[in-house]
Amino acid sequence: MKKITIAIDGFSSCGKSTMAKDLARQVGYVYVDTGAMYRAVTLYCIEHNLVADGKVNVDVLRRQMGQIHISFQLNGQTGCPDTYLNGLKVEDRIRGMEVSALVSTVAALDFVREALVRQQKQMGADKGVVMDGRDIGTVVFPDAELKVFVTASAEVRAQRRYDELQAKGEDASFEEILQNVQHRDYVDQHREVSPLVQAADAVVLDNSHMSIAEQNEWLMNQFMQALEK
Ligand code: DC
Repeated sequence: MKKITIAIDGFSSCGKSTMAKDLARQVGYVYVDTGAMYRAVTLYCIEHNLVADGKVNVDVLRRQMGQIHISFQLNGQTGCPDTYLNGLKVEDRIRGMEVSALVSTVAALDFVREALVRQQKQMGADKGVVMDGRDIGTVVFPDAELKVFVTASAEVRAQRRYDELQAKGEDASFEEILQNVQHRDYVDQHREVSPLVQAADAVVLDNSHMSIAEQNEWLMNQFMQALEK
């Protein structure tokens, strides 16, 4: 059967990963969470003392980039891929506030993007992939057969992240999360290298008032239409 490439881009915490993961599982495609890759590099910086006063030691990170190996392994229990950094599972640690607060700074570094985009292109070289991020439809796979640009209001997205952290027992205030979401939106849209922009040929989905089931159904319809083209 024909396999296509699906690029899902959009703002942070707008449910991209949930819909991308669900679609990949349903149609038997590989799912790649590129945000997790930028988060893993950020965790590496924190764990190797490359961060001081909210600033990353760019020269040392550049030299050590070749030693940072990120991979995904399917978790039999959740049915989703877990993120590994240099062989160690970091899935939970990359989702915490410390990484979230610094990740857009790391994701704005050109040499970090070059290294990760190269890896992402390889991961999707055989098609049959659902990849989510910020620059998938514009930079990583500009020829993707289906491009979706997802958006939702900042408040709705902050509430979703808050609920997620609460469920994990992590302490965080709604205000702090909202500020983090707004800050990341700004940095993602205004950075020099590959800023978050909607691809001209992307289909837009505002899911502020949609349930997970509704957005999954919407995406499945888009997938079926793209297959027929
Ligand atoms: O999707 P997320 O919140 O896990 O992404 C974490 C950060 O990484 C976010 O600030 C944007 C950045 N990112 C990026 O610049 N390019 C991507 N392809 C994916 C994520």
